Amino acid sequence: MSLFRLDASIRTDGSVSRAIADIVEGTWREGNPDAAVIERHLGIEPLDASAWAHAVAADRSHEETWTPPQRQAVELAATLVDELLDAEAYLFAVPLYNFGVSQHFKAWVDLVLTDPRMASRAGQTLAHRPAALVVVRGGAYGPGTPREGWDHASGWIRRILQDVWGLDLRVVESEFTLVGVNPALDEFKDLAAQMRAEAERVAAQHGRHLAGALTH
Ligand SMILES: Cc1cc2nc3c(=O)[nH]c(=O)nc-3n(C[C@H](O)[C@H](O)[C@H](O)COP(=O)(O)O)c2cc1C
Repeated sequence: MSLFRLDASIRTDGSVSRAIADIVEGTWREGNPDAAVIERHLGIEPLDASAWAHAVAADRSHEETWTPPQRQAVELAATLVDELLDAEAYLFAVPLYNFGVSQHFKAWVDLVLTDPRMASRAGQTLAHRPAALVVVRGGAYGPGTPREGWDHASGWIRRILQDVWGLDLRVVESEFTLVGVNPALDEFKDLAAQMRAEAERVAAQHGRHLAGALTH
């Protein structure tokens, strides 16, 4: 049972989303010691931002007329979708950037959706497969906080993974990751530590979900 793992953080050192995703993967690995992991490090190895427009243009024209960039974009989209179809479980680690979705993750989704196997007319090719989404935010956006409702990424990501693609999705969220980095947030140290510990606990649970050990 292979795992597809996507990381959208633009850093490696100190990345909280990677650390929490590592826990998910580690727990999944216990049940799948010899299985392969297919990795996409989108934040540090981004896709070509022009590929999506080329793939869309190719989709609206005859193959004989495709330009070389259009052909490359179609092939890249097919490679991305092959990676998804080859896996049986999925792990996505996506930080909040500028109150919105990581541009690298959005570019990846857009390109994936150009492939005929993932277009809406193809149905939900990945339906019911287990998936975990790790969302990390530097601030906190819960009910009653000054910026409640400012996270414009998580809802969209859920829509795509859960509702458009039909994945059996579990979400783990870790907030206040900038506590200890931004001195203005020092008063939230204890709360941030509690949130992190809870996220790590939930991450391990989601790893078992990916391994098929949890049925609900
Ligand atoms: C350019 C940039 C913009 C960010 N924008 C936000 C934001 O709008 N809201 C927020 O809560 N955190 C924001 N953050 C903080 C990140 O979400 C936080 O540092 C997170 O832990 C990054 O993921 P990583 O630790 O896996 O690298 C931003 C970070 C960067 C680098």
